[in-house]
Amino acid sequence: MSRHVRLYLDDQFDLVVCRLALHQVADPAALVGEMVHVTRPGGRIGVTDMIADEDSELAEETNRPERLRAPNHNRTLSLTEVHALLEAAGASVASTAVRDHDLDLKDRLTCSQTPAPVRAQIRTRLEEELAGGTATGLRPACGDDQAISFTHAWATVTGTPRD
Ligand SMILES: C[S@@+](CC[C@H](N)C(=O)[O-])C[C@H]1O[C@@H](n2cnc3c(N)ncnc32)[C@H](O)[C@@H]1O
Repeated sequence: MSRHVRLYLDDQFDLVVCRLALHQVADPAALVGEMVHVTRPGGRIGVTDMIADEDSELAEETNRPERLRAPNHNRTLSLTEVHALLEAAGASVASTAVRDHDLDLKDRLTCSQTPAPVRAQIRTRLEEELAGGTATGLRPACGDDQAISFTHAWATVTGTPRD
């Protein structure tokens, strides 16, 4: 028996999109599967989310500070994993676009209301990388004012349900 509640009938929509939620859900395959089911043949699904490196160890280093920052962060997937989710759900990948988003660490931590001790932990981790330590995959930079910024890669992947 399915654990998932179905809100819509199959083949209901021309276009179904999901932005910045894939990394939060416990079961991204169920999310993408539902998107494909409710999209009509010939329709389009679109998924936008941050992506992590294809190297799983580096990806885990990326996910660690993200989980500290926001406990509802589950896992940032790699682009290959996003493609595989669509394909496994019964969609063919139609397009992929990747672009960088630069973020100010202080702004980001304020926005997520991250507690001060955890903010310090995350800043220390990025400073370690800036001093030559293990990469986080977040590509930190430090400005003249000592403000730390970092970069997320975002991917937008579209697909069409296969017949
Ligand atoms: C980072 S916000 C992105 C919000 C919006 N889509 C955007 O692009 O600005 C992540 C969203 O995913 C939603 N979300 C996370 N887990 C979910 C779940 N299991 N079911 C439904 N929504 C979920 C959250 O409620 C939140 O609105």
